[in-house]
Amino acid sequence: MPYQFITFGVADRIATITVNRPDKLNALNDATIEELGRAIDEARTRDDVAGIILTGAGRAFIAGADISELSSQSPFDARERSLRGQAVFRRFETSPKPVVAAVNGFALGGGCELAMACHIRLASEHAKFGQPEVKLGIVPGYGGTQRLPRLIGKGRAMQLLLTGEIVDAQEAVRIGLANSVHPAGELAEAARTLVVTILAQGPQAVALCIDAVDRGLELPLAEGLLVEADYFGLCASTADMREGMQAFLDKRAPGFTGR
Ligand code: COA
Repeated sequence: MPYQFITFGVADRIATITVNRPDKLNALNDATIEELGRAIDEARTRDDVAGIILTGAGRAFIAGADISELSSQSPFDARERSLRGQAVFRRFETSPKPVVAAVNGFALGGGCELAMACHIRLASEHAKFGQPEVKLGIVPGYGGTQRLPRLIGKGRAMQLLLTGEIVDAQEAVRIGLANSVHPAGELAEAARTLVVTILAQGPQAVALCIDAVDRGLELPLAEGLLVEADYFGLCASTADMREGMQAFLDKRAPGFTGR
């Protein structure tokens, strides 16, 4: 089925998923959420895709869930909508292929939440981040109350969540919500360069790092360390570990095969 509210392009093993409702600042209506679910699954399963960039068309990244749809929801509809969105965002978070959010403008509500579900966030100088749901009389529904404190700490998360305050790109970097800020015209290239850098590493090691961090954050330290030890052992079964180490000893660049 073709996409209506997003675009999906692949170049040089990198899939770029662009939310494309610029007249509504890329607000996430249900149809866009469904398409994002299909897009991340397409990126995860396609052999010609090794890394993923998520961005928005026009002046926004994503200005939140579509308030026109939320305004009439019943309690049970709202719960189902939340669960559907959470499941889609989780597909981004658990992708074994690295996902970088290129936050080109407003990342509010569901936009901030989807950016947080990506592995790394790069911000344009025009980016703005926030969870303004309390201004609408709702709590975030796509993971904001859970991922924000995990990412930036409880105190700072509480401040953003309870006030609905919107922060600029520099402040987002300062509090750890974004990794770096870039001139608007250089954001796409910065995201691409970052993904290319990751793709030059051992792909299984990258996938296992993502999984170890994702699982480990939910585990007591001792159990997280066991996950790490298991993956460290698993790497020793791969041709890529032998290649990576031999390349170092030979003083040459490694040629990883993903096996
Ligand atoms: N849901 C639905 N429509 C949205 C939207 C959202 N979350 N965010 C923006 N839009 C729409 C506006 O309604 C407007 O549509 P219209 O031209 O048909 O009236 C269009 O996008 C442009 O937005 P506008 O408000 O005119 O732009 P602005 O530059 O004045 O303000 C924002 C930008 C982001 C500050 C403002 O749009 C806003 O506060 N959006 C809602 C943010 C939010 O609360 N998100 C969390 C939702 S749970």
